[in-house]
Amino acid sequence: MRAVTQQEFGGPSVLRVTEVDRPEPLPTEVLVRVVAAGVNPVDYKTREGAGMAGVLGTPPFVLGWDVSGVVEAVGFGVHTLAVGDEVYGMPWFPRQAAAYAEYVTAPSRQFVRKPASVGHTAAAAVPLAALTAWQALTAATTITPGQRVLVHAAAGGVGHFAVQFAKHLGAHVIGTSRAANHEWLRTLGADEVIDYSTTRFEEAAKDVDVVLDLVGDVGTGVRSVAALAPGGLLIAIPAGVAPAVAEAAEAARVRAVPFLVEPDGPALATIAGLIDAGQVHVEVAAVLPLAEAAEAHRLMATGRTRGKLVLEI
Ligand SMILES: NC(=O)c1ccc[n+]([C@@H]2O[C@H](COP(=O)([O-])OP(=O)(O)OC[C@H]3O[C@@H](n4cnc5c(N)ncnc54)[C@H](OP(=O)(O)O)[C@@H]3O)[C@@H](O)[C@H]2O)c1
Repeated sequence: MRAVTQQEFGGPSVLRVTEVDRPEPLPTEVLVRVVAAGVNPVDYKTREGAGMAGVLGTPPFVLGWDVSGVVEAVGFGVHTLAVGDEVYGMPWFPRQAAAYAEYVTAPSRQFVRKPASVGHTAAAAVPLAALTAWQALTAATTITPGQRVLVHAAAGGVGHFAVQFAKHLGAHVIGTSRAANHEWLRTLGADEVIDYSTTRFEEAAKDVDVVLDLVGDVGTGVRSVAALAPGGLLIAIPAGVAPAVAEAAEAARVRAVPFLVEPDGPALATIAGLIDAGQVHVEVAAVLPLAEAAEAHRLMATGRTRGKLVLEI
């Protein structure tokens, strides 16, 4: 089968389409024919030797965790899925899932039926980003109606889901983005939008209960602490809690916690339900063929993507 492999860490040009063996499903696993694979910042970070490189080890390996596709075969003991089912998932994370390929195998319960109302391209844009937003808002904390939630990088892959989920959970949602994305973010449910390029967000957003920091630099973390109400929570998503942010949080009597997304079939089923009910919109900025994975990584690394990037297999 075709897969995008890399033989070394490096820039986008290390990504090459190669022929590799098709995997076989073990007992309790499914073989999924990948129709589309989502692209996430962790992909290019890992390609360079950061991100999940510590888990994957040294190349060769195949990147990609977001899959939407069709069940091609099931291993012994699989009861929840059958051949022909259209499924989506974020299998194996943070281990290698090798989604930039024509087929993947994974534990069957890491896949669920994809949202029926969208195609595979949009479905592949969902798992990692939406699970991050969902798990941050429902597992790292519990949002109660009326709480003030500040979402940094609200226009990005995770952010645009976080805005919609926080709104669904009853929060007053504040998002940061450049002005060009403000109107769109309001249509997704943002109650307030702050142009971080012209306004200091901690002066525009006060008494926040929960900050989802999707930017992750020390300055954004320390300033987010200043936006929190006493007892508030900063969820530091890109790179954990830096020592300076932890100190600022302690001094301000707020909490700051790190976060890492996990495979989660039940949550993906809930998210598919929200999409099919028309309550959550999936924004796909661009779709590229598998052979243009390197270009997708270049686009992803600009940090300007509105919504998601997807590879079509
Ligand atoms: N720990 C985990 O489990 C986990 C899971 C998922 C993602 N992450 C990390 O979380 C981060 C966000 O992921 P993502 O997929 O959402 O990224 P993304 O899609 O690349 O985010 C792009 C968005 O970031 C916005 N942006 C850039 N700089 C900004 C700033 N200073 N303030 C506010 N917005 C800014 C841009 O909006 P404008 O054009 O309007 O500026 C753009 O729409 C990445 O570092 C990723 O690796 C971690």
